[in-house]
Amino acid sequence: MKEVLEYLETNHDSMLEELKEYLRIPSISTGTKNTKDIAKAADFTQKQLKKIGLKNVKIHKTKGHPIVYGEWLGAKGAPTVLVYGHYDVQPVEPLNLWNTDPFDPTVKDGKLFARGSADDKGQVFIHFKVLEAFMKTQGKMPVNVKVVVEGEEEIGSPNLVTFLNKNKKMLACDTILISDTHMEGEKKPTITYGLRGLTYLQVDVTSAKGDLHSGTFGGSIANPIQVLSEILVKCKDPKTSKVKIPGFYKDVVPLKKKEREELAKMPHSDQKFAKSIGAKKTFGEAGYTTVERTGSRPTFEVNGIWGGHTGDGVKTVLPAEAHAKVSMRLVANQDPDTIARLFTDYVKSIAPDTVKINVTLYDNNGNASLSPIDSPGMVAAQAAVKKVYKKAPFLTREGGSIPIVADMQKALKAAPVLLGFGLPDDNLHAPNEKMNIVQITNGYKTVTHWFEEYAKATAK
Ligand code: BES
Ligand code: MN
Ligand code: MN
Repeated sequence: MKEVLEYLETNHDSMLEELKEYLRIPSISTGTKNTKDIAKAADFTQKQLKKIGLKNVKIHKTKGHPIVYGEWLGAKGAPTVLVYGHYDVQPVEPLNLWNTDPFDPTVKDGKLFARGSADDKGQVFIHFKVLEAFMKTQGKMPVNVKVVVEGEEEIGSPNLVTFLNKNKKMLACDTILISDTHMEGEKKPTITYGLRGLTYLQVDVTSAKGDLHSGTFGGSIANPIQVLSEILVKCKDPKTSKVKIPGFYKDVVPLKKKEREELAKMPHSDQKFAKSIGAKKTFGEAGYTTVERTGSRPTFEVNGIWGGHTGDGVKTVLPAEAHAKVSMRLVANQDPDTIARLFTDYVKSIAPDTVKINVTLYDNNGNASLSPIDSPGMVAAQAAVKKVYKKAPFLTREGGSIPIVADMQKALKAAPVLLGFGLPDDNLHAPNEKMNIVQITNGYKTVTHWFEEYAKATAK
């Protein structure tokens, strides 16, 4: 154990250089422009797994981007941990808002700036190096380990479920360990036990066969932008922020009193939170706190809306079309397909008969997940955090989604542990994404302790 930690300390600089190499690969998963870079990142991942000393290391082709797998099953009688992460990243636009090149990793004030530094290359890399440290210094791991790193998380993991169901035996495990979430602060360790789900749709409204003169036709032909806006407004109550789609809340697991008490312990201030992102103040569903709203309650969001004249100057036009992309963050036990259907039915039921309405579903749907907080992996996570941070972690539910967690939980009947080392101000999916170096080094230590604690707790 001591040697493992020493290995990680001694090799810190060269490991950071390796991580930078990983981050230089622009493995953007959406679109088709970066297919070669995706292959490069998969190959880099494969080399990392081989370097650890994992067996059966392989790049598994899918209909989309490849999945990298490796395993070490030398701990007879011990349980099996499946480490999951993703090597794909989000696009980098708007480029002009980055202070440094997103794919030229730069350390400044103890922070590593690059696309993917926190989400998720920098975090999955922590596992590569801890496993490597165990193998190099002990010649073995405390438990059996399987590693799955995919390249489609940021587009909703469309091919991982098939891979999962086809390879249930290969992927069989007791615990799923993931570092792809964040903590409240450098000194406010947090373990996540819930993630939200997602359903994503587009609404297209059309009236005439082409744009019209707004003087000749305005007032006699419906304006699709107006119609679309009215539809969207009817999806959410402006006073209570409750989603008005009939049946939307039907399957939501309500927050228990005890859980609300626990969540209230999070060191959260609405004012500071609003200020940190430059917003005037917080808002949200009546009857819930901000912590509850983001992690434990579902929401309806308009992600984009367009149509008509948006260019320079003026144009008196009656547009023929209007479009909106909308998504709903879901919580356990809402089913994304059911919610998508409820939304589609509702939109069609409230749409006037003056326009044509089309609702299409995107395929980056995902289920919410809830991890039992008393599983051996979760107990080990709390003990490991205590060892490194000298205080007990906060337990919370996260607003973001890692849809595959619920699928793995179900298919493999294993308990997830979301032990993330990001921070709320890491700028995920945004310009100037970063990971604090101390989060990486504390991550090395915490994951090392986690393996020790988990092995101890599960030893027969
Ligand atoms: N790592 C994030 C999820 C996340 C974000 C966890 C913030 C904790 C805090 C993940 O890579 C992600 O961005 N997921 C997408 C999923 C979607 C594309 C299906 C998300 O949440 O939007
Ligand atoms: Mn991620
Ligand atoms: Mn992400």
